Amino acid sequence: MYDEKIVEQAIKIHTETYGTKPTAVAYAPGRIEVLGNHTDYNEGTTFSCAINMGHCFCISASTEPGVRLTAGDLLKTISFDPKNDDRLDKKVQWANYVKGVMFYMHGQNISIDSVDCTFLGSIPMGAGLSSSAALEVATAFAVLEYTGKELGKKEIGILAQAAENNFAGCNCGLLDQFSSIFGLHHGLIHCDFRTLEIYPVKLPADIVFLMINPHIKHALVDSPYNERRISCEKAATEFDALLDHPVKTLRDISLKEFDENRNQITAEAAKRAEHVISEITRVEKGVTLLANNKLNEFAQFLFDSHETSRTAFENSCVELDLVVEAARTAGALGARLSGGGWGGSVVAIVHANEADVICKKIIEICKTKGLEPTAEIIIPSDGATVIKQNTIHVM
Ligand code: GLA
Repeated sequence: MYDEKIVEQAIKIHTETYGTKPTAVAYAPGRIEVLGNHTDYNEGTTFSCAINMGHCFCISASTEPGVRLTAGDLLKTISFDPKNDDRLDKKVQWANYVKGVMFYMHGQNISIDSVDCTFLGSIPMGAGLSSSAALEVATAFAVLEYTGKELGKKEIGILAQAAENNFAGCNCGLLDQFSSIFGLHHGLIHCDFRTLEIYPVKLPADIVFLMINPHIKHALVDSPYNERRISCEKAATEFDALLDHPVKTLRDISLKEFDENRNQITAEAAKRAEHVISEITRVEKGVTLLANNKLNEFAQFLFDSHETSRTAFENSCVELDLVVEAARTAGALGARLSGGGWGGSVVAIVHANEADVICKKIIEICKTKGLEPTAEIIIPSDGATVIKQNTIHVM
C-alpha cells in the first residue's frame, strides 16, 4: 500500500518536464515516532511506524551528463554532478538529501549519471513526519532500480542517514530511515539501534494514531538537536568514569544506576540522560505490555514520555504542551511530541471508532487556547517500495 495519488502526480510532472516517462519509480513513506524519543543515536530502542504519506522519486535517461533534478511541488529544476562532494549547500537546500544519497551510492559503486529525476511528496514539511528521510530513501530505492544494482535494506538506511548527517547537517540517528524502509501495514516496528535488529509488532485492529500539527516552525538543522546529542555523549562518558562497568552509550545505564548517580555528573548532561534512559526503559516495558494487549498502560507511557521531554530533555514547546493536554482532555489514550521536537506534531493513540470525535475535540480545545492545529488520522503503512509502472494509471 502506498500513496497512489502522489505517485501518479510525480510521474505526470516528470513526463511533462522532460518529455519522457520515467523508467524507474520508487516510493518511501514518512514516519511517526511512537515511543523512544532521542534514543536511536544512544543505541537505544524505539517503537515507530511508517505512515500513509510519502515521497515518490522518478528517473529516466538523458543525453546530457550529470543529474537534472526537479522538485515537483516547486517546479524548479537544478543540475549537479552526483560525484561531487557538494555537502551543506545553502543555496538549494532541498536538493541536499538527493545529492547526499547519490554521492554515497557512487562511493559504493552504484553510480548514476546522465539522468533526469523528479520527486514529489505528500508529507507536510516541518510536521515532524520525516519528509527528508522519505526523500532520501525514495531516492536510494529509485537509483537501485534504475541501475539494477543491489544494496541491503539496512545499508540503504545507513547510507541515507549519512546523507542527512553530512549533506543536510543534522546528526540524526537511524529511526526515520529505518521506519521508512521497514514500516508495516497496521503494525509498529520495534527497533534496537545497538544490534540494528527490527521486530514487527502487531497493533490491535481498533487502534489508530492521530497526528496533530500546531504548525510551528521545525527545522532540526537549526534546532538544538546536535547540541543534545553532544550532551548525551557527555553523560555517557561521565558515567563510564563513575560506574564499575563500561558505558559506551546511555543504553548501558539502568534507570536505577542513573537515579543513584545523577548528582555526580554535570547537571545539564544528567537532565538530558534522564529523558533518554527513561525512554529506553519505557520501550522495554512497552514490548511486554503490547504483547499482552495492555494498550491503555502502553499509551500512558506516551504521556510520561512527553513529561520528561518537557522537563528534562527540554525539546518541547508551549504549543506542543497545549496539544498534549488537549488530547488528554479529549480522551486520547496517550499523546506526546513525536520526533526531534522544538516544533513538529503530537502523536496520540485512540480507538478507531472514537478518532473523529477526539480529533474534533482536540481542535476545539486548542482553538480556545489560540492555536489553529490540523489533525490527521494516520494508518500505519508498509515501508518503501519500487513501483512497477504497469500497476499505475497516469492521469
Ligand atoms: C529526529 C531524528 C531521529 C531521532 C528523532 C528523535 O526524527 O531524525 O533520528 O533522533 O528525531 O527521537
